[in-house]
Amino acid sequence: MEYKFDFLVIGSGLAGASFALKVADYGKVAILSKDVLEETNTSYAQGGIAAVTYEPDTYKKHIEDTLIAGDGLCNAEIVEMVVKEAPRQIQQLIDWGARFDKKSSGKFDLAKEGGHSEYRILHHKDNTGNEIQHALVNKIKSHPNISVFENFFAIDLITQHHLGKLVKRIHDNTECYGVYAFDLKKKEIHTFLSKITMVATGGTGNLYSTTTNPVIATGDGIAMVFRAKGTMENMEFVQFHPTSLYNPDERPSFLITEAMRGFGGVLKTQDGIEFMHKYDDRGSLAPRDIVARAIDNEMKIRGEDFVYLDCTHLDSNKLIEHFPNIHEKCLSIGIDIRKDKIPVVPAAHYLCGGIKIDKNGQTWIHRLYAAGETASSGLHGANRLASNSLLEAIVFADRAAKDAVSKINSIKFQKDIPKWYDKGTTHPEEMVLITQNYREMQQIFSNYVGIVRSNLRLKRAMDRLEIIYKETEELYRKSKISKQLCELRNLINVGYLIIKMAQRREMSIGLHYTIDYPPKKK
Ligand code: FAD
Ligand code: SIN
Repeated sequence: MEYKFDFLVIGSGLAGASFALKVADYGKVAILSKDVLEETNTSYAQGGIAAVTYEPDTYKKHIEDTLIAGDGLCNAEIVEMVVKEAPRQIQQLIDWGARFDKKSSGKFDLAKEGGHSEYRILHHKDNTGNEIQHALVNKIKSHPNISVFENFFAIDLITQHHLGKLVKRIHDNTECYGVYAFDLKKKEIHTFLSKITMVATGGTGNLYSTTTNPVIATGDGIAMVFRAKGTMENMEFVQFHPTSLYNPDERPSFLITEAMRGFGGVLKTQDGIEFMHKYDDRGSLAPRDIVARAIDNEMKIRGEDFVYLDCTHLDSNKLIEHFPNIHEKCLSIGIDIRKDKIPVVPAAHYLCGGIKIDKNGQTWIHRLYAAGETASSGLHGANRLASNSLLEAIVFADRAAKDAVSKINSIKFQKDIPKWYDKGTTHPEEMVLITQNYREMQQIFSNYVGIVRSNLRLKRAMDRLEIIYKETEELYRKSKISKQLCELRNLINVGYLIIKMAQRREMSIGLHYTIDYPPKKK
């Protein structure tokens, strides 16, 4: 079947959903989601969204904190723009129905996270993302111009290549006319034609064995844009969250929000010794890259599988009032956070780089925008400041919506797009090849492209990935399309970009820490 929409949005998280809502008064919108609308990284966000609200906080301080975390690689103009835009976008979320916690005085109850010099995180208990996602989904479902396609998996962007035209890697030449998408329930492939396409497919955490990201986070958008000859940047900057709950068989790993350290929680080794001050004067609230590396180091030198986050000295009523979900989750595995220390380990959490966009969310492919975790806007540089990603998603969705709306009337649907040609025959029993390669890929990334890297480890990772890449491409050519195979293929593409850019970055900077190039003294 062929569908036609003015605006095609791939992804229903904060970036995709808010873009859809903002363009919906100017044309017909389709929103594609490979699971149900609610299953997004956005829904899992705990800590909150950073924005300057009251004195003594200032834009200048939020800008400085973002630039310091980014370790010299942020785009300062973009940082200033995003920070100053934050209060307006928070108001937009509130207008759509999202509720942020307030104190009895009526002022927002602001939290603090690593690398922030002030209390500035707006939150809804410890499940802010869920609150935001529900507000968005309610709005989307009631908008007459928005058609929702749940369980539709975008496979590839449609570009001139599909019309039999050769596209060189020259950005100005490539245009996007929509996507081919797989209806996961009916097992049919459809053509979605659009005037404007927005890629908002989120993160890539599943490249690693231990991640806070839900299973949907497989870097599909980045891989699609890469195959369509778009431009990527900063892929080597993979952020590991210092504190996910140590519960080895659980996937995704359950996050223990950084706001707990902002609330007074302290990291300790298994024998009860505080260790962060050995690494940074800011202790447990140092920026994420420093804390994750310190934990990794302590675990390695002690041969231990986890460290503890200790909240037992805090006011227990206030603790469970602020972190009810974490309390409930920990209780479910026999840990009472009021009395017991919480075992934690770092986990792959966020990709700072991605599809390169300009200040209006436009990619280097015509008629194609990107926003949210899949995009690289220049805000995060070499390391994202906590709770700046929800902010980035909503700010760039807003800017992209304005830009797209200003262009929509000058764009026509592309004609003569061929149907998807599915010639594969391999049987689904070959799933074992996919699951085995998926596991191997996760091991390669966890072992060789993790928190601490080296030239040797990166080379080994590339050599191993190459083998899996060849096997998977061959299987892809022969097989009937399946979500699992597409996701594996996409993660391999994303992984290739991460290793390649890590190898080119001959220094330790931000999240890219390599023993071959010791970090500069600051
Ligand atoms: P997502 O919310 O991940 O949405 C991606 C969408 O794309 C989904 O709808 C998915 O189905 C769809 N999709 C993907 N591939 C395809 C495909 N091939 N076809 C069709 N649809 C597809 N950030 C903060 O700022 N503050 C926090 O407190 C915070 N806490 C976090 C806690 C956890 C546990 C995690 C995992 C992340 C957290 N983050 C936080 C990061 C933040 O949640 C994400 O970066 C952000 O929500 C990403 O939003 P997004 O709209 O870009 O993508
Ligand atoms: C957290 O709550 O610790 C996650 C915040 C983030 O990833 O920005």
